[in-house]
Amino acid sequence: LALTLIGAPTDIGASRLGAGMGPDALRVAQLGPALQRQGGTVRDRGNLAGPPNPGGPRDAATGLRHFAEVLAWCRTTHDAVLQALQAQQLPLLLGGDHSLAVGSISAVARHCRATGQRLRVLWLDAHADFNTPATSPSGNAHGTPVASLCGLGPPELARLAGFAPALAAGQLCQIGLRSVDDQEKHLIKQHAIEVYDMRAVDELGMREVMARALASVGADVHLHVSFDVDFLDPEIAPGTGTTVRGGPTYREAQLCMEMIADTGRLGSLDIVELNPALDVHNQTAELVVDLVESLFGKSTLVKDVLLR
Ligand code: ARG
Ligand code: MN
Ligand code: MN
Ligand code: MN
Repeated sequence: LALTLIGAPTDIGASRLGAGMGPDALRVAQLGPALQRQGGTVRDRGNLAGPPNPGGPRDAATGLRHFAEVLAWCRTTHDAVLQALQAQQLPLLLGGDHSLAVGSISAVARHCRATGQRLRVLWLDAHADFNTPATSPSGNAHGTPVASLCGLGPPELARLAGFAPALAAGQLCQIGLRSVDDQEKHLIKQHAIEVYDMRAVDELGMREVMARALASVGADVHLHVSFDVDFLDPEIAPGTGTTVRGGPTYREAQLCMEMIADTGRLGSLDIVELNPALDVHNQTAELVVDLVESLFGKSTLVKDVLLR
């Protein structure tokens, strides 16, 4: 297993500053060595470069805050992720805020189209991130990446894969949602997105949610996980900018990761919205490293030789 860590140190799509320190917080928490212990060969290609966050209001043309800078970061991320995939590496994007997922997932969609793999994206998040500039209450691009990937909003973002939509509705599954804006609810319904919100987790349990989310994942599937740190309950993960109470517990999150690992089909990963400026002693980064170990196959006991 050959992994490439790609740092994208920016908070370009967020309103709170600090997610740009996410990549280094994960390095301080020993992400690389932890992955190596799981049997991976880890290459850290360091941090990508991009424009600073100018702040300020929405721009008139796109309705997003500093759109040009968001686009620059997404393009650079797209290119780095695509390059890793083409080199047979599993790219691990260290964000940075969630707007970067337009870049990473567009690259993965392009790669899957070229190689004939079926793409499935698991979006682990408290939020749907399905706003368009027209529906966004904030103008923050981290609330809009799913809409971009589904072909909505500014065409420069929607067409980053070279085609649009980058994702067909059936390729996307969202888990852990508990804060969805009114207009996003309608978009989710219109696009028939597969969603397991926290009520579904409560009613079905994480085991059944993951069994359903992964049911179609066979040998021809490239599984991409987009892991927004605010997916986790804020009691265990305070180091992120838009916390929402009532998220998965440590145990639920572990099971989620383990069941993904069991598929053996994880092909790419985003870790986004980690904000060490809001954290206490880097505990959220350390928790994420702990969970990512499970995502890459750490288990308490010897595993069956044949994975499901
Ligand atoms: N729905 C809100 C918005 O569009 C919050 C989005 C939060 N997204 C995130 N990736 N943390 O502004
Ligand atoms: Mn998000
Ligand atoms: Mn979120
Ligand atoms: Mn692949």
